Amino acid sequence: MRVLGIESSCDETGVALYDSERGLLAHAVHTQVAMHEAYGGVVPELASRDHVRRLIPLLERVLTEAGSPLDQIDAIAYTAGPGLAGALLAGASFAEALGQALAVPVLPVHHLEGHLLSPLLAADAPEFPFIALLVSGGHTQLMCVSGVGKYELLGESLDDAAGEAFDKTAKLLGLGYPGGPALAQLAVSGQPGRVRLPRPMLHSGDFSFSFSGLKTAVLTLVRDGLPAGVRDADLAAEFQEAVTEVLAAKALAACRQRRLFRLVVAGGVGANRRLRQRLDAALAGVGGRVFYPEIELCTDNGAMIAFCGAQRLLQGKGAAEDRRGGFAVRPRWPLDQLS
Ligand code: KG4
Ligand code: ZN
Repeated sequence: MRVLGIESSCDETGVALYDSERGLLAHAVHTQVAMHEAYGGVVPELASRDHVRRLIPLLERVLTEAGSPLDQIDAIAYTAGPGLAGALLAGASFAEALGQALAVPVLPVHHLEGHLLSPLLAADAPEFPFIALLVSGGHTQLMCVSGVGKYELLGESLDDAAGEAFDKTAKLLGLGYPGGPALAQLAVSGQPGRVRLPRPMLHSGDFSFSFSGLKTAVLTLVRDGLPAGVRDADLAAEFQEAVTEVLAAKALAACRQRRLFRLVVAGGVGANRRLRQRLDAALAGVGGRVFYPEIELCTDNGAMIAFCGAQRLLQGKGAAEDRRGGFAVRPRWPLDQLS
């Protein structure tokens, strides 16, 4: 079965073709980072218009690379939420129209389910069940995953997501947008511990997170001036230590509680090297293992959406939504409401 995947929930347009026998045939992503940079963040209307502009050229590129004509597509999967309403609609209407034209099934897919299943696209994929740490720009969640569509939420961030905290802190340090990778880069030359930041909710005894206080602590330090001898890089390093320590400790605690020592990490922050180091060490310490998506599939892409759609179809699950009466996008959509 050959599934076309369309991703347009935020500032990346992604198109991919996945074949259930042969794997990922081709995928292409256009990132709007350069366009939004001048504004210091994503401008939703610009994002929507750019998705419209990019979808057809990306589709053509993917079909050429895959050597697959349009009529070999068996189904189309697209991100129906969560995300920016206008951006989602660009991908949704494109996918629905193409599906009509080709007379193939069209499947709305949950963006986070795409992230969650993306490590299964790797050569060395984990088996169900596993614990998943989902760390994207908009979400920080720990889930227990027992199969496609079987997601139990163990805990999540009560305020900012980890990626959001990275982005906001990077902005405070004048690192531009998106800040996560830039902050991580700056942290490489810094020394943690020269200023001390809190480890929010580290000992809360549950799987909730809170990262907004961390950003406020950085704001206060920057506003009042850093202590003598402390550089921005040291602050960046300490910030990264604080976030990754809490994420790793809670992920390990979730594995312990469920006695499930396979941990899957998905979402943009999963690209963070320090987080990977800590998680690898934590799981190795209990005889477990961490599974990551390929690095290029950590951030938003069409491949994870195509793969997710294919898994749903193969398991006879169909769309994650009741689609009678047309199609809709869901800017807000809790993952644990899927079946
Ligand atoms: O999953 P994603 O591409 O988009 C959402 O669905 O949100 O995640 C984007 C987030 C951004 O907040 C970005 O700053 C963060 O992932 N990110 C990182 C790194 N690479 C991306 N954060 C920390 N370190 C990184 N290396
Ligand atoms: Zn994402």
